Amino acid sequence: MILSLISQKGGVGKSALARLLAVEIAKAGWSVKIADLDPAQGTSTKWKARRDLAGLQPDIAVEKFRTVDRALKEADRFDLMILDGPAHAEQGGRVMARASDLVILPTGYSLDDMEPQIEAAYELEEAGIPTERLLFVFCRARGSEAEDRAARGYIRKAGLQALGPILPEMASIRQGHAEGRAASEVPFPKVQEKVIAVAQGIVDQLTAEREAA
Ligand SMILES: Nc1ncnc2c1ncn2[C@@H]1O[C@H](COP(=O)(O)OP(=O)(O)O)[C@@H](O)[C@H]1O
Ligand SMILES: [Mg+2]
Repeated sequence: MILSLISQKGGVGKSALARLLAVEIAKAGWSVKIADLDPAQGTSTKWKARRDLAGLQPDIAVEKFRTVDRALKEADRFDLMILDGPAHAEQGGRVMARASDLVILPTGYSLDDMEPQIEAAYELEEAGIPTERLLFVFCRARGSEAEDRAARGYIRKAGLQALGPILPEMASIRQGHAEGRAASEVPFPKVQEKVIAVAQGIVDQLTAEREAA
């Protein structure tokens, strides 16, 4: 299976989700690789180096690829290939999305964050990606329940779907990333529980899309 993380903007949480999913899926016994397609940042690659230094398990395969096509050639070798895209992927984003069972569009609650992602989703739909394969996930989210409701309403009105669980912005997650951990590996059970629900929700959607295909 192939999963893509796509956004117009940088810093929305694509690499955070890539790392979270990779760790949770590896824990479930699947083989997984993160294709780091953002060479300018190399976020997942650098994180993997820190993870290895810290001796954390499970071991997560991460590789930088210069093109999406090169990453796709390797996808069959893994139960799941996670395409951790760059900002402004445009053409590359379409190639990623076409090959994917599911496309994740991370966003914050602000209109400034949602609007470019909704535009990106529409561009993907125009390029032939079915709406059901596009999933918004609220990431680095901070806000009241009212704000959450309003943001969900906005996405729904745009004809798009958002995952129920959210990835909250937490100092412990930031710190975890710095130590080579995924968001689900922070030492706080309440945070872990929230974050694992995000990974589980994405996996559920991924397997549902796969079965529908
Ligand atoms: N839930 C979170 N809580 C705290 N910090 C986060 C969270 N998610 C991501 N970050 C941090 O925010 C920054 C941008 O996130 P990242 O996942 O690299 O975004 P992207 O890949 O979309 O550019 C990174 O420094 C990352 O460690
Ligand atoms: Mg990134």
